[in-house]
Amino acid sequence: GITRHYKFDIKLQNVTRLCQTKSIVTVNGQFPGPRIIAREGDTILVKVVNNVQNNVTLHWHGVRQLRSGWADGPSYITQCPIQTGQAYVYKFTIIGQRGTLFWHAHISWLRVTLYGPIIILPKRHVPYPFPQPYKEVPIIFGEWWKTDTETLISQALQTGGPPNVSDAFTINGLPGPLYNKCSAKDTFKLKVKPGKTYLLRLINAALNDELFFSIANHTLTVVEADAVYVKPFRTTTVLITPGQTTNVLLRTKRHHFPNTTFLIAARPYATGPGSFDNSTTAAILQYQHRSHLSSTTSPAKNTKLLLLKPKFPFFNNTKFATIFSKKILSLANSKFPANVPKRVDRRFFFTVGLGLTPCAKTQNCQGPNNTRLTASINNVSFVQPNTALLQAHFFNKSKGVYTTDFPANPLVKFNYTGTPPSNILVTSGTKVVVLPFNTRVELVMQDTSIIGAESHPLHLHGFNFFVVGQGFGNFDPNKDPAKFNLVDPAERNTVGVPSGGWVAIRFLADNPGVWFMHCHLEIHTSWGLKMAWIVMDGKRPNQKLPPPPSDLPKC
Ligand code: C2O
Repeated sequence: GITRHYKFDIKLQNVTRLCQTKSIVTVNGQFPGPRIIAREGDTILVKVVNNVQNNVTLHWHGVRQLRSGWADGPSYITQCPIQTGQAYVYKFTIIGQRGTLFWHAHISWLRVTLYGPIIILPKRHVPYPFPQPYKEVPIIFGEWWKTDTETLISQALQTGGPPNVSDAFTINGLPGPLYNKCSAKDTFKLKVKPGKTYLLRLINAALNDELFFSIANHTLTVVEADAVYVKPFRTTTVLITPGQTTNVLLRTKRHHFPNTTFLIAARPYATGPGSFDNSTTAAILQYQHRSHLSSTTSPAKNTKLLLLKPKFPFFNNTKFATIFSKKILSLANSKFPANVPKRVDRRFFFTVGLGLTPCAKTQNCQGPNNTRLTASINNVSFVQPNTALLQAHFFNKSKGVYTTDFPANPLVKFNYTGTPPSNILVTSGTKVVVLPFNTRVELVMQDTSIIGAESHPLHLHGFNFFVVGQGFGNFDPNKDPAKFNLVDPAERNTVGVPSGGWVAIRFLADNPGVWFMHCHLEIHTSWGLKMAWIVMDGKRPNQKLPPPPSDLPKC
């Protein structure tokens, strides 16, 4: 592979959306941010220079970062933030991955405006395992708030109530025609030719919403998820959670439709209690006129223009979500094998969900009976340290920074069908799990449904995992494992823990470092639905984490 250099200047930029202009934090003044394009095997060097008042870190979501954990980016996990006026060079090599991923800020809620696509092409002369597309188009979903980011963050973090709902979802930074007159101009347009195959690289960079995606009167073929090829399948709607990426093929119709506009749209799949956003973002699919051939195909004066909208599953259609997720399966062939750990060295059972915690008098709490909403894994609400865990680990200075007693099972025995435990938040702390190198891990994650059943998109840094099983109600350790798929399960970095159910994943801990795991709904991360794994070095030199780069920021 070759080395590709990028310069990311973090700076303020005035941007107008929904008829209002505000100053936002951007990379190089662009919103959404610039694309990173590389081939499998390439090394990427991104020099990030911070020219704003906020502390900043960037994360290369889904990039495995094999033995390059110093470049992973979550603030206070693998690095201290890049402070105003400082710079840091993220350096990593793309090993064994090709497809769509994305980068985003990984501190506070800055990813609301700091995000962009990562496109990893196969090695030179290596074709896709599906028809070569005529064109490739990134489609990145986001959320837009009229209020400034600082106000949004303090509202989200201080009230202890449900998050403030965004004013619009966006496609490639644009809200589209369904919001109001101003955003009708702010619309992404995809001009297509008839009879061609387009590869749409879907990225959900929204903060707090899982999304359904669909194009009016067109069927999509899913070919890749989280930068792993999957067995192709056709669908009219794609479910994509924050943190997930999905490549779909769009085969255009054989004829021109000079008078028809097809909407490309996304709207939430929402299971949780509390605020629900039912707005729809849209872009436009338009067949190009054959103007160079003749003028006869341009719209005739007295023909009506047609606007076709896609049909979506109902907003809380968990059945659709489940069926869709189960269709995602690895290719599992000789070229792209699924290396599912067949045996397991360590088993973990994590409950994930929301809870309530008593509120200090000084806080303006919006939960019931003077409480605030919180979130936890195994009844531990993770507390962000004020120095980076990876440094503390690497230099053997864990004392006072983290403890290694993260529970392998919930502190309060969980029973989905029984009475919910009254002690719904037992403890908080900076607790981690330590794994010897090459541990084969099985992890079952169960939605606690204490405040209400809710789907949680859990994201693991540093690894791809295999989704070997999922179900509803209580996970049964005696019966359910017999049904696990160890042949061709989906291999991904973000999985939805089903609303009112469980999901089982397996991964090989072959990447030494400190690896964050969290719900990719930003509000849940803020409330503590996160933890970290420490994977120890192996014995051989190529199984060890190298020392940090000299420009690694200090806290
Ligand atoms: Cu997409 Cu911890 O991140």
